[in-house]
Amino acid sequence: MRRGAFRLGVLASGTGTNFDAIVAAVDEGRLDAEVAVVVTNRPGAKVADKAAARNIEVRTVDHRDFADRRAFDRAVGDELERYAVDLVVMAGFDRLVTGELLQRFPARVLNIHPALLPAFKGLDAQAQANRYGVKLAGATVHLVDEDVDHGPIVIQSAVPVFDDDSDEDLRLRILAREHEIYPYAIRLFAEGRVRVDGRRVRITGSRDGDGDAHLTNPGPRRRA
Ligand code: GRF
Repeated sequence: MRRGAFRLGVLASGTGTNFDAIVAAVDEGRLDAEVAVVVTNRPGAKVADKAAARNIEVRTVDHRDFADRRAFDRAVGDELERYAVDLVVMAGFDRLVTGELLQRFPARVLNIHPALLPAFKGLDAQAQANRYGVKLAGATVHLVDEDVDHGPIVIQSAVPVFDDDSDEDLRLRILAREHEIYPYAIRLFAEGRVRVDGRRVRITGSRDGDGDAHLTNPGPRRRA
């Protein structure tokens, strides 16, 4: 794994395919960053094995060991600070986070949600979208605030929905897109190109040479 200066703390609870995508982007030189630590709340989570196999530090903070969310978040925050992370990346983390964590990393906690927010918040977003009959679905990378799937949007990317899609078909199509946009969104932070202005997240700098810019809104950022 390539070692960059920009340190990521990944919060994950499950399979960790987004974690894989982030590590692949680092390895392939598309993301100048380093996964400093993976913090999981689920002992035995697959993502922990994957990280360990790559010699990435893993810390398990089991939420069941804490009296409440804030106490759990304090412990998670302590781990992230211990590893001096610049950006906290939630990648399939199945806990809601509180101000206890967010105030320690202001505008520095990212999440990926498998829907075009604000539609289809919460669990099983892909199945919700499929059931609703939408023609476009997608994924959203957003900053985390204290409301569920609500913080300022960094990137969104759409995929088509076909008439005969099963929930699983759609889930996999969205997941493949997640794997493309999450490393790209993280790269924008690593390059210092993100400005948060209320709910508006502005991406600064030229898109020339941004091989992945087509994954998001393809037009210019300003009206002509
Ligand atoms: C992804 O669909 C992500 O959008 C959601 O949780 C899932 C995590 O998958 N927040 P993985 O663990 O990265 O494979």
